[in-house]
Amino acid sequence: MCTDKKKIIVTRSEEETEKAGFELAASLAPGSSVLLRGNLGAGKTVFSRGFARGLGITEPVSSPTYTIVQEYDLPAGGRLYHLDLYRISDVHAGLAFGVDEFLDDPKGYALIEWPDRISGILPPDAIAVEIEHLSESERRISVC
Ligand SMILES: Nc1ncnc2c1ncn2[C@@H]1O[C@H](COP(=O)(O)OP(=O)(O)OP(=O)(O)O)[C@@H](O)[C@H]1O
Ligand SMILES: [Mg+2]
Repeated sequence: MCTDKKKIIVTRSEEETEKAGFELAASLAPGSSVLLRGNLGAGKTVFSRGFARGLGITEPVSSPTYTIVQEYDLPAGGRLYHLDLYRISDVHAGLAFGVDEFLDDPKGYALIEWPDRISGILPPDAIAVEIEHLSESERRISVC
């Protein structure tokens, strides 16, 4: 959970949430990991699309629910690893899949949905983003 809140914003549209993702990505250095939490329909995919755009990715972005990871080459070199661990049961299954490789790439950015599936091996310096549903069009985004 997000206890030490550094930044909290309320977005009022899909576009504003996408912009929040864009701005976070643009502010990060290679090697960063972002843990993205939120209920179904909170806006994780919207935020992820903005995050990818902030790294210069122009391809379509959707959460890799069935494939677990989607890799994108970045125009500046390095990669974005977009992970959706919904179908990963625990750390053991995560390691069997090879998630540690994505987390450890010094040139890569890891954006991890459902990160608590592998809570034992998450990078301690990862940035936590939580999206909460306030109303039909409002979301609270906390970045720690
Ligand atoms: N302020 C807002 N920010 C983001 N999305 C919003 C906002 N207001 C309304 N929406 C709508 O909420 C939905 C968010 O969907 P999205 O697919 O991003 O959620 P998700 O967290 O990825 O859900 P799931 O866990 O089912 O994949 C979209 O239909 C979007 O248009
Ligand atoms: Mg989604």
